[in-house]
Amino acid sequence: MVVLISKPMRTCVIQPSDSLRPQFNIEIPGDKSVSHRAAIFGALCDKRVTFTNVLFSEDCLNTIQILNQLGAKIAVDHDQKTIVCEGVGLKGLRASDQLLDVGNSGTAIRLLTGLLAGQPFTSRISGDHSIQNRPMKRVTAPLALMGSVIAGDERNNNVYPTLTIQPTTQLKGIHYEMPIASAQVKSALLLAGIYASGTTTVTEPLPCRNHTELMLEAFGYPIQVAGNEISIEGGHALPGPKADVIIVPSDISSAAFSIVGALMKGGKPGELLLELHNIGVNPTRSDLLTVLELMGAKIERVNERMAGAEPVTDLRIYASELHNISVPEKMVPNIIDEIPILAMLGLVATGVMSVRHAEELRVKESDRIKSIVQLVLNMGGEIAEFEDGFELLGPVKIRPFEVQSNGDHRIAMSAIVTGIAANVPATVHDVACINTSFPNFFDCLPWTGAIWSVKG
Ligand code: S3P
Repeated sequence: MVVLISKPMRTCVIQPSDSLRPQFNIEIPGDKSVSHRAAIFGALCDKRVTFTNVLFSEDCLNTIQILNQLGAKIAVDHDQKTIVCEGVGLKGLRASDQLLDVGNSGTAIRLLTGLLAGQPFTSRISGDHSIQNRPMKRVTAPLALMGSVIAGDERNNNVYPTLTIQPTTQLKGIHYEMPIASAQVKSALLLAGIYASGTTTVTEPLPCRNHTELMLEAFGYPIQVAGNEISIEGGHALPGPKADVIIVPSDISSAAFSIVGALMKGGKPGELLLELHNIGVNPTRSDLLTVLELMGAKIERVNERMAGAEPVTDLRIYASELHNISVPEKMVPNIIDEIPILAMLGLVATGVMSVRHAEELRVKESDRIKSIVQLVLNMGGEIAEFEDGFELLGPVKIRPFEVQSNGDHRIAMSAIVTGIAANVPATVHDVACINTSFPNFFDCLPWTGAIWSVKG
């Protein structure tokens, strides 16, 4: 049995403010996806490696804690936003007799399940109420094809945590065509593939984030990418990166709240609204910028450069007249985490915003299609719900609103940004979840002078 420790829910109350002004000096924290992978590959390589600008959100701290429970040597320096990993090598992990608790993190449970499938010991992994209701068959089914034995809570023709992962004498490589474009599934299989005999090949139906592939390559593990096929041969070492210190890019999915907030509030045509630094613009992650540009946003990329294996840039966002679009299907996996805040922008832009082929939203931290519909209706908008997305009509005069986050950090932040940008009284319940991905969210609002308080 898993004992759930309930956390305070907390409520954010927003009041209109006469003194809202653009804020330029915002430092967006490190990328969540890259920070998880930094901890994992830092733990497993053969040298000492330091990562800076690491995201210390609840999700990433859970990954670090689990790895350390398993015998990794990751030291956390909160003040310097740094982790120092004394790599224990690919065979250096040890059994933990405790339940491995990912909290709210889908990335942690899926990636670590792949890693644990290759270990010579039994592990039990679970998380909070949301995690216990997120589908895991997408990783357990292909891992079973590799020979892994993973038991979970079987219901609704799926598998849910708690997962018990048994040791397998030898995993074997497979060729797996992913039915969904999921970087978490791909990464789980690549991690298991390191421990498998032969080659593991994963085919993705549409490109999804490739931080695992980039980090494996930078850490000296042979990996082949040919079009939409990614192949890894088991049994090699993971020497570690050439550099001793790697900078984690700042998270474009977090920056999205500042960028969209600034565009929503707007300004004089052409006015500079926001400048952000060191934002990760890996092409598998940065289609939000393309979508915003298609909507008419003026965005400048300045000083494009590399941070380790990842491209980063500074961004300048200008006040722009915005019109809604149909988001191209091929961009959906790329912007999957930004769709809630993008929907909010749809409310102030002209015309119909259509997001389809996005059924993955139904199995995120909340059913995000339902959560978005609830936000839009409560804010006074019109929206049609589909099994795989939604269509909404703008512009809308956003009215005072009271909404639930449904325990979903991106829904909570989307609602708060909209309330402040629209300058209406608003109440957003259950906002403690923001700490899972963006603990200093309130410092990164693109304005000074906003009036908000968090209670409870
Ligand atoms: C992530 C992949 C995405 C994304 C999640 C982080 C990752 O999920 O939604 O927030 O770090 O691999 P899927 O790969 O399941 O779409």
